[in-house]
Amino acid sequence: MAVDLLLGLQWGDEGKGKIVDVLTQQYDIIARFQGGPNAGHTLEFNGIKHVLHTIPSGIFHPKAINIIGNGVVIDPIILKKEMEALAPFQINLKERLLVSRKAHLILPTHRLLDAASETAKGKAKIGSTLKGIGPTYMDKTGRNGIRVGDIEMPDFEQKYRALSDKHQAMIGFYGVEIQYNLSELEREFFQAIESLKQLTFIDSEEYLYQAQKSGKKILAEGAQGSLLDIDFGTYPFVTSSNTTAAGACTGLGIAPNQIKEVFGIFKAYTTRVGSGPFPTELFDEDGETMGRVGREFGATTGRKRRCGWLDLVALKYAVRVNGVTQLMMIKADVLSGFDRLKICIAYRYKGKEINYFPYSIEAENVTPIYTEMKGWAQDLTQISDAENLPEELKQYIAFLEKELEVPIRIVSVGPDRKQTILR
Ligand code: GDP
Ligand code: IMO
Ligand code: MG
Repeated sequence: MAVDLLLGLQWGDEGKGKIVDVLTQQYDIIARFQGGPNAGHTLEFNGIKHVLHTIPSGIFHPKAINIIGNGVVIDPIILKKEMEALAPFQINLKERLLVSRKAHLILPTHRLLDAASETAKGKAKIGSTLKGIGPTYMDKTGRNGIRVGDIEMPDFEQKYRALSDKHQAMIGFYGVEIQYNLSELEREFFQAIESLKQLTFIDSEEYLYQAQKSGKKILAEGAQGSLLDIDFGTYPFVTSSNTTAAGACTGLGIAPNQIKEVFGIFKAYTTRVGSGPFPTELFDEDGETMGRVGREFGATTGRKRRCGWLDLVALKYAVRVNGVTQLMMIKADVLSGFDRLKICIAYRYKGKEINYFPYSIEAENVTPIYTEMKGWAQDLTQISDAENLPEELKQYIAFLEKELEVPIRIVSVGPDRKQTILR
């Protein structure tokens, strides 16, 4: 059986958690393939809101197996907290949450290195979530990392000590002041390792191969978004993993020809949290309204998200890089009440009009060119049938489908599981 893939097409927070939760009933296995606790995936049902960082968003379904793949970086301390938050729901985590032995561990000193690097960068900082993501992937590609499988080896603590000592010397190299109590952080880390050991470690590429062979349905859950991809994003203001479709192959050991549907998810407008260019960003009342109505605050850091109009140039680029076969649009409800809606359809780039995503989208090079559409006043949050959506929204959707050449199959009109319209 083939593998389907769901990933974000913008700068993260496109509603991946919500939609994976909605889709899970059709799958046997949900697998995260990259990123780590920089992700914050929100799910809402039965009046309760959950935010997951490391655990895949299929965990609330009674049967689905959830896998943390080899491409993910795990902070045992954060994972322990997530596991504790799930305690009231009586989920058998030993059976339902499996962890790749090849996933890398985030050490406390990786987080300190992240903080030192960002402090040293000053104004040029990435706006990292400070979860240690960059330094952990650097150790992975530098071939110095520590993996989940190492926990089962006799020299785990020596390996830990050697890497942690090296990191402390590196922190000194940045020449910035950061406050920390390492022995306290380490006590917490080793306690959390004990919790991690309560889960089942697997050779996930073999597990997934056998699962595919026996006809199981697998959904790979992306984290972050395509514009934060280490190769295709707005470098250096990106994360440190491949958030695009190829990342699912390397992050799970799935062959490219096994991937069937690629679900690309986007907001009806655009948001970004952290630093970096954002051509359609709004600094006026419209941007304020999107932020207020859309409750645009980061699920991981609580930071205010920057808001702006939909950028079709960027969205087309993401659709192509990922080979998206079906689109999903969230937060259509947030646009209710705008008289006119703007959509960026091209860039003026170094004086010329272009309709592709260029090397640099910094404000000094790029000015967005907009088309305008009529908005709708109607509240959408109670609508459950696509037929009943306002005419202007139908036109907005039709325009996007024509431009992107991919059908929009789901329109989300609120954070709850039930506020999901299939088309
Ligand atoms: P993720 O990181 O892609 O999983 O997305 P986040 O959870 O970080 O951010 C999406 C936010 O939008 C969450 O607070 C969701 O509860 C909320 N959300 C999801 N879909 C909708 C929607 O259609 N309308 C509204 N108003 N909120 C939504
Ligand atoms: P989900 O999965 C939105 C952003 C950070 C920062 C940059 C680098 O919830 O969509 P990092 O911590 O990776 O070094 O940060 O990437 N970022 C996200 N923005 N959603 C996310 O994840 C993000 N994960 C990282 O704000 O700009
Ligand atoms: Mg998020």
